[in-house]
Amino acid sequence: MKIIHLTDTHLMPSGILANGIDPEQKLRSAITDICARHSDADLLVITGDLCNHGDAEAYALLRDILAPVPFPVRLMLGNHDRRPEFIAAFPDHPQDGNGYIQSFMDTDHGRLLFLDTHAEGMSGGVYDAPRLDWLEMALAGAGALPVTVFLHHPPVNDGIRHFRNISLHDDGALLSRLAAHPAGVRHVIFGHIHMPMVGTSPEGIPYSSGQSCTHRFITDIDLPDPWWTDGNAVYRILMIDDLGFRAFGAEVGERPMTRARICAGP
Ligand SMILES: [Fe+2]
Repeated sequence: MKIIHLTDTHLMPSGILANGIDPEQKLRSAITDICARHSDADLLVITGDLCNHGDAEAYALLRDILAPVPFPVRLMLGNHDRRPEFIAAFPDHPQDGNGYIQSFMDTDHGRLLFLDTHAEGMSGGVYDAPRLDWLEMALAGAGALPVTVFLHHPPVNDGIRHFRNISLHDDGALLSRLAAHPAGVRHVIFGHIHMPMVGTSPEGIPYSSGQSCTHRFITDIDLPDPWWTDGNAVYRILMIDDLGFRAFGAEVGERPMTRARICAGP
């Protein structure tokens, strides 16, 4: 299974910048590249902060930009999003029965879980009892299937100073519950931190973040106020197959320089 992963697209109404960068231009260039190079993908996932201020005009723009994508799309909410405006713009997007943007998808290589950690008015995330109840159902239904988990806020202590007080406020409950799934967790995929990161939790769960498609941080673990910077649009290619789970970074607009020689076999 081939999944394209975008995160933190922070769309504004057309023509308006966010942190000095045009998020529409970034996302349009990413989607153009994805459609040209990965039309064989099975799924596109955007792990939240879809829009910078959660306004209807920006969600309408998101619909327009995603329209050419020839495979299914799953969207998650981040702290910058607004659930009512999202649902108004994407009324057919799967929900969990309580109005949270949560769903699962079964594949040949396990169950994919898409979780909603958005809490109105908060920069950090919440995963409270109603959402955990849904997760219990989804994990029970997974049975012998391993799960791969997508959400916006890191459910781990990532040790990044800037995010110390704005991560997932659940005292580790979500990760503990995932760790108890007998068939295992292949990988946890999140956004929010706007920088690429991979790790393994103390429970042994592997995780990674995508880099923001628009304004991203110059990676600094210790600065409470790190610098935003610009760059080409980026996305990730996630492969889940007989080789296991693999994540590849991709950058839009890279210039071919010199071709590598074809290497002979062993
Ligand atoms: Fe963000």
